[in-house]
Amino acid sequence: MTQDELKRLAAQAALRYVVEDAVIGVGSGSTVNHFIDLLAPLKNRIAGAVAASVASAERLRRHGIRVLDLNQVDELPVYVDGADEVTEHLAMIKGGGGALTHEKILAEVAKQFVCICDESKLVPVLGKYPLPIEVIPMARSYVAREMAKRGAHPVLRDGFKTDNGHVVLDCHGLTILDPPKMESEINDIPGVVTNGIFARRPADVLLLAMPSGVRTLRRQRPGTTRA
Ligand code: A5P
Repeated sequence: MTQDELKRLAAQAALRYVVEDAVIGVGSGSTVNHFIDLLAPLKNRIAGAVAASVASAERLRRHGIRVLDLNQVDELPVYVDGADEVTEHLAMIKGGGGALTHEKILAEVAKQFVCICDESKLVPVLGKYPLPIEVIPMARSYVAREMAKRGAHPVLRDGFKTDNGHVVLDCHGLTILDPPKMESEINDIPGVVTNGIFARRPADVLLLAMPSGVRTLRRQRPGTTRA
């Protein structure tokens, strides 16, 4: 099976998390594109979608799925999105497509975050994939120096602006042993809009596609045991 076929398999598995008559949160990236395409036949069974990126919103509209602004929505029962790296504790690096800030907002609002990935995304420790940081342009060099002090090799994403008009620094060479701590520390640097560590609000469910099928991993909440 190709990686793209595995992405589609993960996306297919996420359909059973779609809540009837509710608004669904939709992330961005190639795995989510499969999800949007597979969601199209169900469009009359949902109230609409909130999208994390302009590209996802356009794809949803092309399928005739109603796209709402997050400010029009009181609750988001489910948010479906991909990841660039994910651990078995369901912490992630996201933002390869540059939509990390909107993705983090939707993840935070959603009751349930369903992450869809092919098996190549599962890692023991986050950091091999360069960590994206969305930065206000005037703070670009300052934030890069701060990240260098933390052992990273930041590279400005060439010719790229986020949907918010900001730049992205891709930080190579990090070994992220304590993802929630590093997520907070980086977000505290003035000029950082957000960073691509999703650990303070990890996924609740990971649907990991492999040639033998889709493995479901659930987040262990404090005080519970894994089923
Ligand atoms: C987009 O900004 C990202 O967070 C995506 O979720 C991530 O890059 C995964 O993308 P693919 O599904 O294309 O691998």
